[in-house]
Amino acid sequence: MSDAATDAGEELAQSTSDASLTRSVERSREIRAQIEKDPTGFRVMTGDRPTGNLHIGHLLGSLQNRLEVQQLGVETFILIADYQVITDRDGVGPIRERVYSMMADYLALGLDPVTTTIFTHSSVPALNQLMLPFLSLVTDAELRRNPTVKAELDDTGDRPMSGLLLTYPVHQAADILFCKANLVPVGKDQLPHLEQARVIARRFDERYGRAVPDQPVFRAPDALLAEGGAVILGMDGAKMSKSRGNVIELGMTADETAKVIKKAVTDSDRHITYDPVNRPEVSNLVNLAALFLKRDPYAVAEQLGDAGGGGLKKLVTEAVNEGLAGHRARRAELVAHPEHLQQILHDGNDRANAVADATLAEVRTAMKMVY
Ligand code: TRP
Repeated sequence: MSDAATDAGEELAQSTSDASLTRSVERSREIRAQIEKDPTGFRVMTGDRPTGNLHIGHLLGSLQNRLEVQQLGVETFILIADYQVITDRDGVGPIRERVYSMMADYLALGLDPVTTTIFTHSSVPALNQLMLPFLSLVTDAELRRNPTVKAELDDTGDRPMSGLLLTYPVHQAADILFCKANLVPVGKDQLPHLEQARVIARRFDERYGRAVPDQPVFRAPDALLAEGGAVILGMDGAKMSKSRGNVIELGMTADETAKVIKKAVTDSDRHITYDPVNRPEVSNLVNLAALFLKRDPYAVAEQLGDAGGGGLKKLVTEAVNEGLAGHRARRAELVAHPEHLQQILHDGNDRANAVADATLAEVRTAMKMVY
């Protein structure tokens, strides 16, 4: 292995260490301040795997962040990562329904298809072709060290590692680099992938050179981490996931929402407090109400006083249903016009293809594969 590869392997392993996380958080703050001054130097790219419908964890963890960035005037690319669905499972599931369900949520949220390009992996061949030169720039040892890939493999039980699961961080680097994004709003589990994308951008320049002098083909992207706040857990206190049935989907009805919250885990102490360390389930519910009511969680707990689990759930149900009512009405309207959603996706795919074709042309020029 070359020295460069060894260094990068270490960078990848370190990208989740505490010190490095603190650096990423600080860097995200600096970038936020820069965007507010001048958004024009930034291009944002991010995406979701269409393995299920979007839920309130997505809303509070990433979707609101995207909307904020859009409102500050930053050009954004949003990928519905359909090829990433099959990294850790056998089939794609009801993929078409899920893709359009995601589109409906994005648009209901207020993402503007004029300034935000929404597209799907499988519709953009040139993006996927970047995978070939990129794979030549990584070693299997550094891929095997990626902590997020390891965690995802563990989550699948005894499933053997597929070639796609092992290499999906490289595919994700193609997602980010094809449109030369320099900013990627993600959660901290995605930091190793961001580091991998930076390594690939740098190695491409070192090994294959440039299409024009003085200008590397790819620029190194930064993560934009969501600001503080507790992670939203599912109604049983575990990670929110559809397979656990603990999820509040954005598209659920008010009744379905009430049913899921009714099943939520609480404890036998009727006095409600906000104490995430000692009472994680109760505090998660208090936090949810607080986020939807835009209030401080300690104040919400105090107001509830001795209301017990029942009173807490009643407040959460009202807060979530009222908070999502507008979104759900807009969503229903969008879902009623599938041809409109389809047109928006096709336009996004056309735009993504134009950008990907131009980038691939530069890659071929840099690699002298112009015949
Ligand atoms: N892996 C991301 C997730 O599971 C989704 C994703 C795919 C993504 N491609 C991306 C995120 C590119 C940011 C940039 O959430």
